[in-house]
Amino acid sequence: MPDQSTNDIHEAVGAARALLTQLHDYGVTEFIASAPREPAPCPPGETISHNGVPCRQETLEEIAVELGDCQRCPLCEKRTRLVFGVGDSNARLVFVGEGPGREEDQRGEPFVGEAGQLLDRIIDAIGLSRAEVYICNVVKCRPPGNRDPHPEEIATCEVFLRRQLAAIQPEMIVALGKFAAQSLLRKTIPISQLRGHWEEYAGIPLMPTFHPAYLLRNPSSKREVWEDMKQVMRRLRENGERFSHKDHKPLT
Ligand code: URA
Ligand code: URA
Repeated sequence: MPDQSTNDIHEAVGAARALLTQLHDYGVTEFIASAPREPAPCPPGETISHNGVPCRQETLEEIAVELGDCQRCPLCEKRTRLVFGVGDSNARLVFVGEGPGREEDQRGEPFVGEAGQLLDRIIDAIGLSRAEVYICNVVKCRPPGNRDPHPEEIATCEVFLRRQLAAIQPEMIVALGKFAAQSLLRKTIPISQLRGHWEEYAGIPLMPTFHPAYLLRNPSSKREVWEDMKQVMRRLRENGERFSHKDHKPLT
């Protein structure tokens, strides 16, 4: 005589067969066998749903992992450290510079040298802190002797900048100097003409301004950068509540 557990199994199989027959009558012809999983990151440049296959925005960590010990362009040969970026991965505001200098190359962090100290003052002047924004560069490795990055080096590296910006989705971008502004905007207009006017990068308002290293050589241009930063502050304030209300002093 079958025992109780055998009876239970027969009963369960019978119930499953009845359910499948019923579903088949309803038109169900196949099942997806895998358990639901978190969607994989979207391929670079794709959006949240590609061809109906759900995918999610990749994270900064995933982008950094993919960059890895990058050997994609000749800048890798002379660099000490790759400089990915620092700050809040949910920042409202991202500053984009050109490329690491000597101190940045040593420390693996953007804008920590003299130009970086001036950038810190700019960030402070608009009522934010370094930890509240995100800071990165167009090229992630130091061009030897701080030469200009070559177009091929920019072309190879800027895809990662674009992916960082897509991951952060900031409310605003400040492009510091000609390389950041021209490469993000795909324009060849001089920075002296671009600065001070809102542009748009991938639907995100972008303010081009002078590079802090340029300001070190041309301190009188701080006045213009301060005008540009006032526009950024105004827009941050109009957009929202998370803006801290410190006393704002002109940049000196
Ligand atoms: N200049 C830049 O453009 N980026 C840095 O990180 C430092 C100096
Ligand atoms: N040239 C640059 O590359 N950046 C500036 O900000 C000004 C001149």
